[in-house]
Amino acid sequence: MSASRSIQTISKLAFIAAVFAVGSFITTVQADPYYTWQMENFKIKKPLGGLKGNAERGRQISIAPDKGSCLNCHAMPIPEEPFHGNIGPSLIGVASRLTEGELRLRVVDEKQINPETVMPGYYRHPKHFTLVAEDYEGKTFLTAQEVEDVVAYLLTLK
Ligand code: HEC
Repeated sequence: MSASRSIQTISKLAFIAAVFAVGSFITTVQADPYYTWQMENFKIKKPLGGLKGNAERGRQISIAPDKGSCLNCHAMPIPEEPFHGNIGPSLIGVASRLTEGELRLRVVDEKQINPETVMPGYYRHPKHFTLVAEDYEGKTFLTAQEVEDVVAYLLTLK
């Protein structure tokens, strides 16, 4: 390899390293904010952070084992997934039983309704968490956008 070639390679590598460094800096700085929410009559009427949900993304989040993993406990109209749990009630037709605000509270913090529930509070205030893995310290299980996506999906289950 000629000297100028290897200098070129080194500067390319340095450039790539710089891009990565800047990239991880940006992700750290833009950590998701925690939007406070208000419960009224066992409903959270306002979308978290005023965000708009996307039902198709919500369906994927419900399946994803590292996100909602709702299928561990609930049956849902997701035929391509073989396992549907029955620890919780079936969510098929849930939007004809519960309103948007009621669904949002259940995803955000089911413990407000049933303090003994095994359902995770996906957007419970991080100060309520005890004994969480370091990766989750100060974080919610789902972001506000992900909660809104899941709510948008649940609303399609009429
Ligand atoms: C570890 C089990 C578990 C997981 C995971 C779980 N849930 Fe639940 N869920 C329950 C149980 C149990 C109930 C019944 C009510 C209670 O325990 O308070 C429930 C209740 C609900 C209800 C109210 C249903 C009704 O008919 O009243 C909704 C809506 C719901 N869950 C949505 C979800 C969604 C969406 C996810 C994924 C983001 C999820 N759950 C993940 C256990 C779970």
